[in-house]
Amino acid sequence: MTDITTQTQAQVALVTGAAQGLGFHIASRLHAAGYRVAVSDINVEAAALAARELDPSGETVMAVALNVASRADFEQALAAVTERFGSLQVLVNNAAVTRATPVMAIGLDEFNEVVNINLGGTFAGCQVMGSYMAEQGYGRIINMASLAGQNGGTSTGAHYAASKGGILTLTKVFAKELASKGVTVNAVAPGPIDSPMVKALVPAERLPGLLAAIPVGELGDANFIGDMVVQLASPQARFTTGTTWDVNGGLFMR
Ligand SMILES: NC(=O)c1ccc[n+]([C@@H]2O[C@H](COP(=O)([O-])OP(=O)(O)OC[C@H]3O[C@@H](n4cnc5c(N)ncnc54)[C@H](O)[C@@H]3O)[C@@H](O)[C@H]2O)c1
Repeated sequence: MTDITTQTQAQVALVTGAAQGLGFHIASRLHAAGYRVAVSDINVEAAALAARELDPSGETVMAVALNVASRADFEQALAAVTERFGSLQVLVNNAAVTRATPVMAIGLDEFNEVVNINLGGTFAGCQVMGSYMAEQGYGRIINMASLAGQNGGTSTGAHYAASKGGILTLTKVFAKELASKGVTVNAVAPGPIDSPMVKALVPAERLPGLLAAIPVGELGDANFIGDMVVQLASPQARFTTGTTWDVNGGLFMR
């Protein structure tokens, strides 16, 4: 029998919101590291395109429809992945939305929608996939948080920042719950990364101002975020749980 705790070649990873942006880079780096990857997204057509880009043969990558606001979608995705690839060892809770609405103008519906997707989605993912991993006696969960969850954010919106702060706390809660079952739960907190989300939030004319405010003077690299996730996903990362790994160009130091 293959020992899944030492061989990443035999392992399977699911990334949420992986059709574009950081999620796609994370899926790509996990695939390059030898994982079979489920590229999941609310936009299943885009997920299918992304999956084909990673492996045109379709042998080592599958596309999955998964709206993280739906617990039933996580259950169906888990069933689809385990049927196709036999098991699941790694979950990356990456999907998120942001709305750049000023705090005093955010309606309760908008607030709840953003928190439900970002924080509720991470909660559902940790619960559904975490239960399965605990039964298997092994797993790695990586939650995408944000600098906004640590410093209150700048252009990203209060609901986004609050949801990301909540993810840092949920990461600790699930890490404590699952530590004795061989399942680690960690978070990555990026500052502004060279990505479609940052380009959408920051108009070109404001970019020089943003760069000037970042101590290292440049945006972060999405592939490096992917490599951090690969490291947290590895069997050797077993002594690291409940942590948040910062990658923010020096914008927030602690
Ligand atoms: N880009 C950055 O600079 C940055 C900085 C800090 C944190 N982050 C975090 O990294 C993660 C990825 O960010 P990004 O910039 O790549 O975002 P993005 O907007 O480029 O991509 C998000 C993906 O999630 C999908 N998605 C949206 N709602 C969904 C839902 N309900 N269910 C499933 N999928 C859904 C979208 O279709 C899209 O493919 C997010 O958690 C974000 O908060 C990004």
